[in-house]
Amino acid sequence: MLIHNVEQLKANNEFAMDVESGLNAKQKHISPKFFYDKNGSKLFEEICAQPEYYLNRTELLILKKSVNEIIRLIGENQISIIELGNGNSTKTRILLEPSISTLKRVCYFPIDVSLKMLESSIRDLIREYANLQVFGLCSDYLSGLIKIDEYMKKHDNIPKRKLILFLGSSIGNFDPEELKNFLYGLRRNLRKEDALLIGFDLEKNKIDLESAYNDKKGVTAKFNLNILSRINRELAGNFKLSTFEHKSFFNIRKHRIEMHLQSKIDQQVIIGSIGRTFYFKKGETIHTENSYKFTENRLKGLVKNAGLEVIKNFTDPEKQYSLILLKKVSNTTKP
Ligand code: AVI
Repeated sequence: MLIHNVEQLKANNEFAMDVESGLNAKQKHISPKFFYDKNGSKLFEEICAQPEYYLNRTELLILKKSVNEIIRLIGENQISIIELGNGNSTKTRILLEPSISTLKRVCYFPIDVSLKMLESSIRDLIREYANLQVFGLCSDYLSGLIKIDEYMKKHDNIPKRKLILFLGSSIGNFDPEELKNFLYGLRRNLRKEDALLIGFDLEKNKIDLESAYNDKKGVTAKFNLNILSRINRELAGNFKLSTFEHKSFFNIRKHRIEMHLQSKIDQQVIIGSIGRTFYFKKGETIHTENSYKFTENRLKGLVKNAGLEVIKNFTDPEKQYSLILLKKVSNTTKP
């Protein structure tokens, strides 16, 4: 059942506005959230299957190994699992299966900005799990969480204890300020008995990091360039894709992989629906994505500053990736 759709209508306008202001800036940029049209989402799935892109498969392995412990640590016989950005719910199934078989009642609330993705994954889940109640929400994450809270308050049969999932290292795509605000937002939505499971990619050597974002088959390059095809298609642009090149590198000082599209020549590009021409010098780049990598110390600081505490940190033997189960710090100080 679909309970709300707030974001879809705003989407087109937002894309044009982001492209206009981003290409006007000194360091040109476009937000990575616009990677995920139909083609971009398919390419991202293909990235996840590339041997160099260890993130997805490592998270999957950790999740498979720790799922029973996660359920045990949450320690409740009814639960509402809320997933931020559900994608195709592959990882969710790993959590849902044992939850459904061991707990009395499980409700699943996926929140995603893509209505199509949401509808198709809900349809599949309902077909597969007859007893599972699914309530999808097409929205941005924080307003989606507020709506779910309101829904829960009105419906007694919905489990009140929440497990919020934010998987796939998507948290790495937030800039530090955004990340801080996002974690505050999540904390505000938690009660002391709720939990949060977040996937973080850990900082490692430059070679492994850079090859994950420069796969040999060139899928990441296609994914990056697809944002220009999207502008051509949806905003009447005339980008010539062969005149731009995918660049991605680890910025050690900023602890992040940066993705750029670099112009191979001096050129001008017209974007019809914005009614503007943009100029590119040879070598100039459009910054399309940051993917932050976390050290143990930085994670500790983040969690503490957000008023959260670690229930358990699950990681792989090579310490490539961390799946952290968190809860709200219980406030023991008396007023
Ligand atoms: C979705 N996100 C976590 C991916 C990442 O690794 O930052 C997006 C991606 N960009 C290039 N490859 C994958």
